[in-house]
Amino acid sequence: MSRQLGCLVMAGALMMASAPAYSGDAEAGLALARSWCAQCHVVEASQDRASDVAPPFAQIANDPTKSARGIAVWLADPHPPMPNLNLTQQEIDDLVAYIATLKTD
Ligand code: HEC
Repeated sequence: MSRQLGCLVMAGALMMASAPAYSGDAEAGLALARSWCAQCHVVEASQDRASDVAPPFAQIANDPTKSARGIAVWLADPHPPMPNLNLTQQEIDDLVAYIATLKTD
């Protein structure tokens, strides 16, 4: 490995190591959800319809089998019928933070 590449890899590893686990911004997540997810998912209570196949975000948030981490993993690599939206890690964190606000208990 070249010296330069080695440095880049190190820098990347350091950045990942120092990032807090859930640094998402729920407000940014809601904005993303409205523009990218609402065509299929009901993303907030005031939205009256979406597709039938995608679960509403409130349902996902309150499903005990779906953890924040599990949702983040899904968003990094979703499978059909959900399209891969090529979200950045920050976008994923924001969406996960937003979905967490829909938890009712
Ligand atoms: C084109 C339609 C479509 C779009 C756009 C879409 N989804 Fe989905 N999504 C689906 C469908 C359909 C499922 C159900 C997949 C299944 O049950 O196999 C799903 C499932 C999910 C799940 C549940 C995964 C699980 O563990 O069961 C999450 C979380 C999710 N979507 C989040 C999002 C977010 C966040 C966005 C916006 C960035 C988004 N989706 C955009 C169609 C979509």
